[in-house]
Amino acid sequence: MMPPAAHPGPLNPDPGIWLVGAKGMLGRQLALEFEKRKFVFFASDQEVDICRRQSLQDFARGKKIGWMVNCAAYTAVDRAESEPEKALAINAAGVENLSRLAAEMGARLIHFSSDYVFAGDQKEPYRENAQPRPFSRYGWSKWQGEIKLAAHHDAFFLFRISWLYGVYGPNFVHTMLRIFQEKETARVVNDQFGSPTYAAALAENIAGLIGADSGRCGVYHYCDGGAITWFDFASHIMDLALEFGMIPKKIPLVAVSTSAYPTAAVRPRYSVLDSGKAVRELGFQVRDWRMNLKCFFLEKARLKDSP
Ligand SMILES: NC(=O)c1ccc[n+]([C@@H]2O[C@H](COP(=O)([O-])OP(=O)(O)OC[C@H]3O[C@@H](n4cnc5c(N)ncnc54)[C@H](OP(=O)(O)O)[C@@H]3O)[C@@H](O)[C@H]2O)c1
Repeated sequence: MMPPAAHPGPLNPDPGIWLVGAKGMLGRQLALEFEKRKFVFFASDQEVDICRRQSLQDFARGKKIGWMVNCAAYTAVDRAESEPEKALAINAAGVENLSRLAAEMGARLIHFSSDYVFAGDQKEPYRENAQPRPFSRYGWSKWQGEIKLAAHHDAFFLFRISWLYGVYGPNFVHTMLRIFQEKETARVVNDQFGSPTYAAALAENIAGLIGADSGRCGVYHYCDGGAITWFDFASHIMDLALEFGMIPKKIPLVAVSTSAYPTAAVRPRYSVLDSGKAVRELGFQVRDWRMNLKCFFLEKARLKDSP
């Protein structure tokens, strides 16, 4: 798809960061990381609607912004099948607004897309130059966003990530923890392969990227190390939940095929991403998914114990 772009000329040297979508799962994690590193940043969420250019311009006015990090998105994968216009408005038109504004301000723009832009018919991890061919309306809207992003600005970093989870916000790990507490058994899909992305590990890498300001813009893939199925993920979540005393007992997990668990949106059968380029060119650290899942549990335990 898009070739990696070079910095287009003088960029705004201000260190200030605008974190867009700061109240979502990834946004909250990035806000924490930025606070930890004492970065200067301005946060916005729904109150600054990315679908309204005026609202974005009003927020930016008078602020010294050298970086924009967009975590705002429409992320309801199944609901997007019945409201594709809304998904497109946020994930494509909204991204176009951000891209245009970043170009006007000379700010570097970091944006996130999804493994769901791919069809899932590969047998080896997807590299950045693989052709998107989404089956779902959500995947389509994210791909359209990628195109809009690159059409209006050169200084962008586009990270495709997969199976995002973290201590904030709804995600697969939280769903499993709830099911393990409420049900006697759980059925989990065992024929979709991918890699989880732990939001805190991603946030560390993104903050490192901003701190280093390498100038290597372009498209990157990032996820935790290892390729697994949702069933593998659920099994390990159960083991750790037990170890951390978050569930009283193990319950039987039943491996099922995708056809036995119909959803509105069709998901890729195989969407493992190859993070190699981000490691080589941006110095990103990739940890094994098991190690990151353990970090997640440690963080959950810490949050539970903190006053
Ligand atoms: N979650 C995953 O498994 C996954 C996988 C691959 C890629 N990604 C991508 O990773 C990024 C972060 O995902 P996430 O799970 O952290 O998302 P999220 O938790 O859904 O957060 C998105 C945030 O954006 C806000 N928002 C929605 N529409 C907006 C608008 N028009 N203007 C301003 N803010 C708006 C949302 O507010 P409301 O909550 O009030 O709507 C929410 O606070 C997204 O680009 C997503 O597509 C996610």
